Amino acid sequence: MALYRKYRPATFAEVVGQEQVTRPLSTALDAGRINHAYLFSGPRGCGKTSSARIMARSLNCEQGPTSTPCGVCDSCVSLAPGGPGNLDVTELDAASHNGVDDMRDLRDRAYFAPAESRYRIFIIDEAHMISNAGFNALLKVVEEPPEHVIFIFATTELEKMLPTIRSRTHNYPFRLLTPSAMKGLLQRTVAAEGATVEDSVYPMVISAGGGSPRDTLSILDQLLAGAGPDGLTYDLARPLLGITDISVIDDAVAALAAGDKAAFFQLIDAVVESGEEPRRFATDLLDRLRDLLVLQAVPDAVAAGLVAVPEDRAEAMTNEAAAFSNAQLAHLASALNEELPKLRGASSPRLLLEIMGARLLSAPAPAAAPGPSGATAGVHRLPI
Ligand SMILES: Nc1ncnc2c1ncn2[C@@H]1O[C@H](COP(=O)(O)OP(=O)(O)OP(=O)(O)O)[C@@H](O)[C@H]1O
Ligand SMILES: [Mg+2]
Ligand SMILES: [Zn+2]
Repeated sequence: MALYRKYRPATFAEVVGQEQVTRPLSTALDAGRINHAYLFSGPRGCGKTSSARIMARSLNCEQGPTSTPCGVCDSCVSLAPGGPGNLDVTELDAASHNGVDDMRDLRDRAYFAPAESRYRIFIIDEAHMISNAGFNALLKVVEEPPEHVIFIFATTELEKMLPTIRSRTHNYPFRLLTPSAMKGLLQRTVAAEGATVEDSVYPMVISAGGGSPRDTLSILDQLLAGAGPDGLTYDLARPLLGITDISVIDDAVAALAAGDKAAFFQLIDAVVESGEEPRRFATDLLDRLRDLLVLQAVPDAVAAGLVAVPEDRAEAMTNEAAAFSNAQLAHLASALNEELPKLRGASSPRLLLEIMGARLLSAPAPAAAPGPSGATAGVHRLPI
């Protein structure tokens, strides 16, 4: 079974990185302040459907409503991840069931008392797909629901939600995970799987997953599937993720710091010859410059989770950052950022990479003098 399905959270405490939502919902559950219509919005794969199911489980636990469902009553067992479900909790995918007839059917079912639980709960996924006519059929029951009915709408597209629904629900916004929250989730999953993963693999997987827990767990899943007896190593993961080798970026940064044009052009040659994506190289270099900028401003950025690299890289990167003045790094990053879009679909990426290199290296490269005067000295020598 796919990792992201195997490890679906079963309680709000297990939902990672959505405290802005799970904390107030838990408080409301424990205080018995129950609303009759909720709206969970946010990016794909961040825990909306999982949280809607957790909400249903928390509301209908025999010991509940509670933020800590007992896990052993009939309702908790049937609503656990992978459980059979029960008659009182209905999930409807509005992407495929969004018409008037579907909504009428749902409305009619809402007026029946629950079969065995406290509440009859309707989870309506992709709720922005409900048609206007469909929602009109539902409007009255959402507006004045019977005491025992709760609606939980979920959507990736809050702007497309009918205002009539939005205004009648309490909205809880989900968001993409921060790298440090994601690392926690990955480490927990790796431990549960009894797998071994090199620390340097995490930042690559986190960056490839783009902040979505589901996408990130899928990537981890694929990589773990191919891991040998040594576990998941950097050397195994990097080519699969198509990420430029850290040492290549290290060399590029060193060449930039030294203003060494020959070294930089040789590096470009090696990148192109190795068949790596030139755009990828430029993107990864830009990411590194960004990390160095942050490290210059916040010396403990790695520990603070602002820069997602393994702890053992922190010192090397701090040294890299110290080789530039602040103005120089800012100039390099913004020049690279401007060049980057030109690489998309270019017929001669090599040429463009070389022009990019020439532009980056056209600035004189003063080594950072210690102290703030050194940083300012750099400013005057830059042709901006
Ligand atoms: N915040 C989270 N904490 C832990 N795991 C998560 C979280 N968000 C997502 N996941 C993982 O991703 C899987 C999919 O999450 P879920 O279906 O809840 O996302 P969703 O927001 O409803 O996505 P979609 O918008 O595509 O419907 C879960 O089974 C779980 O493994
Ligand atoms: Mg969903
Ligand atoms: Zn229970």
